[in-house]
Amino acid sequence: MHGLSRRDALGLAAAASLTASAPAMARGKSDFLWGAATAGHQVEGNNVNADIWLLEQVRPSVFAEPSGDACDSLNRWREDVAIVRTLGLNCYRFSVEWSRIEPAQGQFSQAYLDHYRRIVDHCREQGLAPVVTFNHFTTPRWFAAAGGWENPQAPDWFARYCDRVARAMAGGISHALTFNEPNLALGGRWSAHPPDAKFQALIAASVAAAARASGSDRFSLLNAGEPHPMIPGVVAAHVKARAAIKAVRGDLPVGMSLAIPDEVAIGANSAIERKRADVYGPFFAVMDKDDFVGIQTYGRDYIGPDRALDLPADAPRRPNGKEWYPAAVGNVARYAHRMTGKPILVTENGIDAVDDAERARFIPEAIASVDAARRDGVPVIGYIHWSLLDNFEWFSGYGPRFGLVAVDRTTFKRTVKPSARLYAALVKARR
Ligand code: NOJ
Repeated sequence: MHGLSRRDALGLAAAASLTASAPAMARGKSDFLWGAATAGHQVEGNNVNADIWLLEQVRPSVFAEPSGDACDSLNRWREDVAIVRTLGLNCYRFSVEWSRIEPAQGQFSQAYLDHYRRIVDHCREQGLAPVVTFNHFTTPRWFAAAGGWENPQAPDWFARYCDRVARAMAGGISHALTFNEPNLALGGRWSAHPPDAKFQALIAASVAAAARASGSDRFSLLNAGEPHPMIPGVVAAHVKARAAIKAVRGDLPVGMSLAIPDEVAIGANSAIERKRADVYGPFFAVMDKDDFVGIQTYGRDYIGPDRALDLPADAPRRPNGKEWYPAAVGNVARYAHRMTGKPILVTENGIDAVDDAERARFIPEAIASVDAARRDGVPVIGYIHWSLLDNFEWFSGYGPRFGLVAVDRTTFKRTVKPSARLYAALVKARR
C-alpha cells in the first residue's frame, strides 16, 4: 500500500467526518436501502478515454449509436442527486470511471478523484447512502490495448486504481461494488437461441477495428462474447480490489454485482445446477470474504436439459414479447442467499418500458416479491431500481427506456415519470 499524501489524508479525514452520520442512518427504522442507480458511461457523456467510447466510433461498430453527451450527468449530477432525494429514497448507486481517474497508465487525475468525492460527499449531505461501483463494464483504452483482463498484471492494475479511489472517498461510501455483472456474457451456451453468428462477427470486426485504432493487436474487453479467457483475471482482480479497499477502510462493506435471472426447470432439474455452476461458479467461489452479494435481475429463463428454452406459449407477455414476471427478483434473492449465505443487495431491477404505465405495474409486484423473501428470512438489505434516468443502453443506444426519469435528448431536461412517484409513495409508506 502506498503512503498517504497530505492531500489524500485531508480528503480522507473530510470524508470520514461525513460518515459520522452513516451509523445513524444504519441504526434507524429506515436502514433498508431504497435507491435508484446509474452508471458512469451510460449517463455522464463524453467518456473519451474509455474502451467502449472507442468501439462506438470505429467502423464497423457493434453499437447502434454513440453515447455522445449521454445524459450530461458529468455536469448535471447535482440535479440527479436532488431527484433521488426529492423522491424520498435514501440511496444513490453510481459508478466511478476508471478511464477518467487513470486516463494514462499510472497517471491519476486528482481533478476526477475530487469530482467523484464531491458526489459522495454531496449524497451524504443530502441524507443519501452512496453505493459506488468501481467498474461498470468500461475500462481505460490503455488497459484494453494492453490485453485488458487477459493481461497477467490486470488484477494489480485494477487494485491500484481501487486503492486510489478508496483513499480519496472510502470514508463516505456506504457500499462498494468492485465489478458490475462480470458474468454477463457467460450465459451464452445456455441461451434459448444459438449465438447470432452475424452479431458475433460484427463484434469481432468492431473489436479488430478498435485494436487497429489503438495500435494494439491484443485489444480486449469484458463481456465481448464467448470464449471468456478474461474470467480468471476478473476474479483475481475482485479479490485484490477487495483487499485494497479494505486496507483503506476495513469496515466498508464490499461486494460485486452479478447478473442473475430467475430460472424454471423444464424436465431435468440438474440442468439448472449445471448452468449455475458454469455461469456463477467462478464468481461465487471468490465471494467468501465479501460482505454482501449484489443481484441484478430482469426476468427468468426456462431451462431444458442442456439449454434454455423458448417461453411457453401460455406465459403472460409484455408488449415486447418478453415474459411478464416481476417476481423474479425475490426468487433470485432467495437463491443468491442460499448459495452464499450473505446479505443480499438488489443493485439493479427494472424494465425497459417505453410505456411508463408498465413500469408502474412492475415496481409494486417486484417489491412484493422482495418483501416475501424477507418475510421468509432472506436478509435483503436494499432495493435499488435500474435506472434513475433513461440512458445509453450499450449496444442498443438510446432506444430502450429503463428510467424513472425521462431525459430530453436535446436539452437534457429531466422529467420525473408517474412510475417514479409511485415508487416514491411505496417507499414513503415503508420508511
Ligand atoms: C445491467 C447493466 O448493469 C446496466 O448497465 C444495463 O443498462 C441494465 N442491466 C439494463 O440492461
